[in-house]
Amino acid sequence: MVASSISNAEQKDNSLSHIRLAPGDDKTRYQQSSYKTNSLSLAMRRGQAAKLYEIAKTPQLGLPVLAKDAVEQIDRNKIELGRKLFFDRRLSHNKTMSCAMCHIPEQGFSSNEVSRPIGFEGRAIKRNAPTILNIAFAKLLFWDARENQLAQQVWSPLLAANEMNNASIGAVIDLIKGDPEYLSLFDKAFGQVPDMLNIGQAIAQYERSLIAANSRFDQWLYGNSEGALSEQEIAGYQLFIGKASCSSCHTINSRDALFTDQKLHNTGLGYSTSMTKIPDMITVQLAPGVTAQVEQSVIQTVGGIKENDLGRYEVTTKPSDRWKFKTPSLRNVELTAPYMHDGSFKNLDDVLAFYSGGGVEHELLSPLIRRLNLNKLEQSQIVSFLKTLTGSEVRTLVADGLAAPIGDTILEPDE
Ligand code: HEC
Ligand code: HEC
Repeated sequence: MVASSISNAEQKDNSLSHIRLAPGDDKTRYQQSSYKTNSLSLAMRRGQAAKLYEIAKTPQLGLPVLAKDAVEQIDRNKIELGRKLFFDRRLSHNKTMSCAMCHIPEQGFSSNEVSRPIGFEGRAIKRNAPTILNIAFAKLLFWDARENQLAQQVWSPLLAANEMNNASIGAVIDLIKGDPEYLSLFDKAFGQVPDMLNIGQAIAQYERSLIAANSRFDQWLYGNSEGALSEQEIAGYQLFIGKASCSSCHTINSRDALFTDQKLHNTGLGYSTSMTKIPDMITVQLAPGVTAQVEQSVIQTVGGIKENDLGRYEVTTKPSDRWKFKTPSLRNVELTAPYMHDGSFKNLDDVLAFYSGGGVEHELLSPLIRRLNLNKLEQSQIVSFLKTLTGSEVRTLVADGLAAPIGDTILEPDE
């Protein structure tokens, strides 16, 4: 039903102006009792399929050119298949959770409404869901860089007990094999039946088509379009590469910019959350304008205890790697709140206040992090600059996500 109404809408509507790049209800002023929901009904979620194959193949201003063999591997049928798998809610143990429910298209392919997403049957996840926009260019995957190949990475969420919680690799393969439509799509894309490798490759091909650069910043710096940025934004850029030296980790090159050095660093945030005692009483908001004080011990009986996070150390067990996390790209950062590995900061103003104060001092703090003493104007200039990094194709990719099939028949491999 849903799928057919979407495709009707697709045909009627060629403008993407109705596509909103934010949650259906962004909860602005939710603290106040006068709050009114801005929730969009499902009927408003009209998608429009995009030419992902063209997007994946075409170089975009501001990004490095993909290696020739990577371009040659891009395949229309594999992208289409990967897109179907990415949005398919049947690929979790209880057939309700897809990749797209944490990497939500209209929320910057991340999760705007929660600092850490909620997984299988409400289970807690200790880290923030990163965007997968431009993931084609990432050399390291996950906040602790424990993975480096997209085609392999997919098995982590598919199997993690607190994410999609499938019983085994074989169980996922059997589930997919049980659907005649998938069998024919795998045959078309790979000339093979679904297996551990090609399932990953298909999803990876879809993820690699989510390219979002050619932002106003790119047009200004790399496209010689002088008027593309305002004075405030240019001042922010000057601070970013100068006094605030953000670009020592969020790299900008002379021909392209990934806004990451593809390395891991300790900004002190992980140290501070590990070392700060959780208060005994917590303020919980129950409804607009209604809060209650609840004992932490009561919350723990229903919500689970927040796990400690030692970052890269959890992969290497090297003491000097404690609280090191991957430098995230800052492309499309306006769309991917909340921020940092644990979603500690609600907005970019809070991120800038953190850096301005020099992160959190301790013996493992990166030598590149120091007190910057940026005044309020300077902080707001950098925030304005960061908001110029939204890619020109994002709306197209979001509309495409909204048009994707979500998988509405239960697969029963045994029947
Ligand atoms: C329940 C929420 C959830 C689901 C479902 C989920 N993810 Fe994620 N994803 C996350 C979180 C949280 C992280 C960061 C985890 C970490 O770094 O330890 C992440 C990380 C990633 C990364 C690495 C991004 C980076 O910048 O390093 C990729 C790629 C990714 N997910 C793709 C997928 C795919 C593909 C699926 C479906 C097979 C999927 N995710 C399902 C929450 C989710
Ligand atoms: C030492 C390297 C380094 C420097 C210098 C640095 N960053 Fe970061 N940045 C990181 C790392 C590492 C993270 C992830 C940290 C974490 O989650 O604990 C990060 C996270 C961020 C995020 C959150 C992005 C997201 O998707 O969650 C923003 C925004 C950001 N930095 C902006 C800046 C700005 C602005 C500056 C300059 C004032 C700056 N950074 C300087 C390494 C650096």
